[in-house]
Amino acid sequence: MPERARKASSQKLPGKPVSASRTDMVEVVLPQDVNVFGNILGGRVMHLVDIAAAITAHRHCRSMCVTASVDHIDFRNPIRMGELIILKASLNRAFHTSMEIGVKVFSEDVLSGQKKHTTSAYVTFVALDENREPKPVPPVICQTAEDRRRFREALVRRKYRLAHRASKH
Ligand SMILES: CC(C)(COP(=O)(O)OP(=O)(O)OC[C@H]1O[C@@H](n2cnc3c(N)ncnc32)[C@H](O)[C@@H]1OP(=O)(O)O)[C@@H](O)C(=O)NCCC(=O)NCCS
Repeated sequence: MPERARKASSQKLPGKPVSASRTDMVEVVLPQDVNVFGNILGGRVMHLVDIAAAITAHRHCRSMCVTASVDHIDFRNPIRMGELIILKASLNRAFHTSMEIGVKVFSEDVLSGQKKHTTSAYVTFVALDENREPKPVPPVICQTAEDRRRFREALVRRKYRLAHRASKH
């Protein structure tokens, strides 16, 4: 869809607050999720990040969505077998047909209750229509100072992401 048409049609959609699509997920780290050191596999974390982000994207636009990109992921702290993995996903910004979702990952020791921030990731989803073509998404309504900060910063990351994409074509 031409850029101008996309912009116009997405502006007609009613906005939705960040809180309407925020997603919290909790899982126990099981033996099949870990490496020989008993720490969760990076691939398992990425899988859960993708799912938490997908739920947020679907909740925001109520259409089919696909993952277009995942920014780089750092693993700051291991999550041990038997601990909880907690994922908090929220919509940072809706563009025209795409959305940036931020996912924060924490570990929780079930005995002590101690929580650690282990990973952060930014995932871009694109909404698709019944012909699997990108379709406009509702704008996001920021309600808090934190929402507004994330909204501003998402634009900076988008510029970098799209420049990177263009350099690969
Ligand atoms: C994502 C996909 C739908 C984009 O299709 P496309 O024909 O390139 O569409 P466009 O160029 O019109 O881009 C559509 C939107 O995606 C965004 N986009 C596309 N590639 C992107 C990338 N690598 N990073 C960030 N945004 C991207 C564009 O900026 C545009 O967003 P906007 O409308 O908000 O400005 C298409 O590449 C696809 O289907 N990829 C496979 C998705 C998939 O299967 N994911 C599962 C994991 S493999």
